[in-house]
Amino acid sequence: MGDFQLDGHVPDPKRGAEVFAMDRAHVFHSWSAQKALKPLPIAAAEGSYFWDYDGNRYLDFSCQLVNTNIGHQHPKVTAAIAAQVAKLTTIAPQHANEARGEAATRLAELAPDGMEKIFFTNGGADANENAIRMARLHTGRTKVLSFYRSYHGNTGAAITSTGDPRRWPNEFAIGHVHFFGPYLYRSAFWASTPEEESQRALQHLEQVIQFEGPDTIAAVLLETIVGTAGVLIPPPGYLAGVRELCTRYGIVYIADEVMCGFGRAGRWFAFTDHGVVPDLITFAKGSNSGYVPVGGVIISDEIAATFDDRVFPGGLTYSGHPLACASIVATIDVMKSEDIVATRFASGRRCSDRDCVTWQNAIQWSVRSAAPPCSGRSTWCRTGRRGRCSRRTAARRRP
Ligand SMILES: Cc1ncc(COP(=O)(O)O)c(C=O)c1O
Repeated sequence: MGDFQLDGHVPDPKRGAEVFAMDRAHVFHSWSAQKALKPLPIAAAEGSYFWDYDGNRYLDFSCQLVNTNIGHQHPKVTAAIAAQVAKLTTIAPQHANEARGEAATRLAELAPDGMEKIFFTNGGADANENAIRMARLHTGRTKVLSFYRSYHGNTGAAITSTGDPRRWPNEFAIGHVHFFGPYLYRSAFWASTPEEESQRALQHLEQVIQFEGPDTIAAVLLETIVGTAGVLIPPPGYLAGVRELCTRYGIVYIADEVMCGFGRAGRWFAFTDHGVVPDLITFAKGSNSGYVPVGGVIISDEIAATFDDRVFPGGLTYSGHPLACASIVATIDVMKSEDIVATRFASGRRCSDRDCVTWQNAIQWSVRSAAPPCSGRSTWCRTGRRGRCSRRTAARRRP
């Protein structure tokens, strides 16, 4: 926090007090007991910083909710949104439109081969909801297996509460089974090496599958890198083993890349480093740095084909909203033209004005911790660039 001012932004404490008063009078906040809340009114943001109404500047270390992967107010993305506003602000999902088509094409280009179709949602939770629904309808099975340590979103009851026939093919509020993922620091398996942890965690998963009944399991849903539950990097071989179990038992593998995707782990998709190809990929946050609410599911050709002649019983008023899609297109183009994923994120560079990289650094730090010991002379990074060894300092601090 400092006392800098955003160019052109004049501090206005009186307006700040009004904004605070309106919020306290009428806004009901997420995940909170309401009475004691004192939300900080934010006046403006740019790059890695935001400003309050008193003119104080804050470095946005958390990238809001780990989503402003290209920083705030990137001029090319805000310009693309403005251009889309001028052209076509909204259009129902049943129509084709340029922004949606361009966004879907960009996403399919980033995805592994054989994943050509995109279903757009409003955010990450409904991306997972719809991925689960696709897996259930594709397999004809119900159960979904996921880690005890995981977060996949804040929906689930809405469609079951629905009163009209759209509910009938979607009443799936049962059938969730949890299991332990690998986590060497608090190993559930008494493992002492990453290899042991990986192997034992896979044995555990296979036992869960067998005791639950493989024919009852539609999907394994995993964050590639567990995010809010701890920034947990899967040990070598674990995700490849999950992929193999899913294939063997006919289970759909859903990779939740909502938080760890779009450069956050140094790749467009974090699973790339684990040599696996999921059946469904869910995305949101970094796909457009959160400038307009959006998420979605990237669908394998095999699962997409299930719905070639059979109705997919799901939809959203704002699926593929033009403003959201225009912001995805511009964000991906900016990330490519500024080489954000390949160079900036992958090298673990320290943050500068436009790079809001702290959480991403935390992930890279964990990735590095799983990497071979560094010489102490050069920074371990994908580019092999030499520099001061920040990793050794970080490793010493590690519990
Ligand atoms: C891994 C993961 N999946 C899903 C979600 C839910 O996304 P949203 O809040 O956009 O619904 C989150 C949100 O933090 C997340 O971290």
